Amino acid sequence: MNVQIRKMTIKDYAAAYALWQNLPGIGLSSADKEDALCAFLAKNPETCLVAEDAGRLVGTVLGGSDGRRGYLYHLAVHPAYQKQGLGKRLAQASLDALRAQGIEKCHIFVLADNQEGLKFWQNTGWELREDILILSKSLCSGKDQGKC
Ligand SMILES: CC(C)(COP(=O)(O)OP(=O)(O)OC[C@H]1O[C@@H](n2cnc3c(N)ncnc32)[C@H](O)[C@@H]1OP(=O)(O)O)[C@@H](O)C(=O)NCCC(=O)NCCS
Repeated sequence: MNVQIRKMTIKDYAAAYALWQNLPGIGLSSADKEDALCAFLAKNPETCLVAEDAGRLVGTVLGGSDGRRGYLYHLAVHPAYQKQGLGKRLAQASLDALRAQGIEKCHIFVLADNQEGLKFWQNTGWELREDILILSKSLCSGKDQGKC
């Protein structure tokens, strides 16, 4: 296996979306449409990465920051490449890029039924916070409200 990590571009969208769709731990929404990813990449060009093996996309991570805290979304590794250290490499590369921007702490959101994902994060040094609850509010209206 000779997997290279590089910055993501919007040309990776189709392959990345196909990978995400096949992984139950990845929740998809209207924030994953091509134009939304394009905007996210424009704001976070250094911290969104893909892993490639001979030109085939086999992993992703969307790192971003609001200038205060960092966030990782869609850490995903193709099933044939899992448990070989690639998820850890991708996450660390994005965290290193966030740190280089002055970010001191990073958060992630894990679907409550994603026990495998949770084990990965805890095995790689992330602390499960029991003192914070997440509340969300949709800013969409009408028929789009449930898709945001
Ligand atoms: C989570 C995911 C990205 C991990 O990728 P990976 O390449 O298999 O992980 P790594 O091989 O880098 O594992 C890093 C460490 O975590 C451990 N780990 C990985 N998956 C694990 C699991 N399911 N249970 C327990 N430990 C696990 C590894 O043993 C390894 O530990 P080590 O460094 O002591 O050897 C991958 O399983 C995946 O794509 N899952 C589906 C999508 C998903 O749920 N993403 C997270 C969304 S919050």
